[in-house]
Amino acid sequence: MADLSVTLAGIRSPNPFWLASAPPTNTGGQIELAFDLGWAGAVWKTLGHETDQIVNVSSRLAAIRGAAGRVAGINNIELISDRPLAENLSEIEAVKRRYPEHVVIASIMTGERRQWEELIRQCEEAGVDGFELNFGCPHGMCERGMGSAVGQDVAAIETITRWAKEATRRPVLVKLTPNITDILEPARAAARAGADGLALINTIKSLMGVDVDRFVPYPTVAGRSSHGGYAGVAVKPVALQMVASIARDPQITIPISGIGGITNWRDCAEFMLLGATTIQVCTGVMFGGYRIVRDMRDGLTDWMDENGFDSCSAFIGKAIPNFVEWNDLDLNYKVIAHIDEEKCIGCQLCYPTCRDGGHQAIKLPEGADGGHSVRLQGVAHRRPVVDEEACVGCNLCSLVCPVPECITMVPVDTGRAPETWGERCPQPAE
Ligand SMILES: Cc1cc2nc3c(=O)[nH]c(=O)nc-3n(C[C@H](O)[C@H](O)[C@H](O)COP(=O)(O)O)c2cc1C
Repeated sequence: MADLSVTLAGIRSPNPFWLASAPPTNTGGQIELAFDLGWAGAVWKTLGHETDQIVNVSSRLAAIRGAAGRVAGINNIELISDRPLAENLSEIEAVKRRYPEHVVIASIMTGERRQWEELIRQCEEAGVDGFELNFGCPHGMCERGMGSAVGQDVAAIETITRWAKEATRRPVLVKLTPNITDILEPARAAARAGADGLALINTIKSLMGVDVDRFVPYPTVAGRSSHGGYAGVAVKPVALQMVASIARDPQITIPISGIGGITNWRDCAEFMLLGATTIQVCTGVMFGGYRIVRDMRDGLTDWMDENGFDSCSAFIGKAIPNFVEWNDLDLNYKVIAHIDEEKCIGCQLCYPTCRDGGHQAIKLPEGADGGHSVRLQGVAHRRPVVDEEACVGCNLCSLVCPVPECITMVPVDTGRAPETWGERCPQPAE
């Protein structure tokens, strides 16, 4: 059976599944339960220096829902740990004593150099395996010059990462904020300063919605609100792009812990194929409980066995060579939509989407049906057909179609050799 163990920045982990710094890692008791259920690592809810005053508000979360009312994303206005530092440290010590093979990372955030050094020393004495510098939270702490205020300032990233590296010999990961223009800038700054690894993404600055009867944004605190940090399934595409961009950057050679919208084994495989060595989960556990790790473990193991991967290192980063610049895509490759007559239920959802938002390639044959009708709940419906000349292969109809495998995209022979934009319009040498 496939071996799930991984090593990130010298930290050995029995499997790649870690809990992200957040409510699921708030206390030692929670983390012990999570370890019993199969999580290999936990990044402790961010700790501040004992002099940092942390006061939370109520309420703290709001959600956006997708089809069938399922939560697609949440935003939160929670701060870092508001529990006494001494309590957290003694729980870290107890967890590490009981679970020496599991990974406990201290997520930390504070202000002055002396405070960073003291906090690092205290966590080290409690027995943590490494550190994660929280340069990411986009609410509450950044107004005090911490969190994303650091993550958006390349010089500050370098300075604080160097402070941390000088203060400890244990691995230091830098957790990045996605609230920037180009993720490579902060990632390279952390790498330059000697970080042993990167963790991303933290939450995306957001405003979830407005109570239209009371005229207050969500989540509401005594009739007011504030912007928060967006997380959950909806942020996964943002996270994947950032992880992959860092993973393929020749200037960055340190490992990555991938975070953002992960809920199942397939998400884990995708992050790892794009370069993550471990993955971290917050919202997925907040909504599904620690038990979701069973699906991750069983699913990833089965997938590895089916694909002949006996270790995680055999597939980490395997999709990176196929993640290229747009200029390197083949302009002469073409697919067109194909509607399976046996599967089509005549719902016609593809027709207005292609007409109004696509390229007018799906037609509804007029008049006598000529074989182009299908019975849906006893009523005859015209079945759409594809005008192959007009179809550009955008995928829209196959995304809209409610029947699995009914509309598929089929490659056609264009008779032209592969050619990229870079080849067609070469840029003059500088
Ligand atoms: C309620 C809440 C509290 C969080 N607190 C922290 C924190 O203290 N430190 C931190 O680094 N990230 C914190 N995060 C961010 C998560 O660790 C994670 O980066 C983010 O939620 C994206 O992952 P997800 O989509 O799995 O939730 C928090 C997220 C949520 C939803």
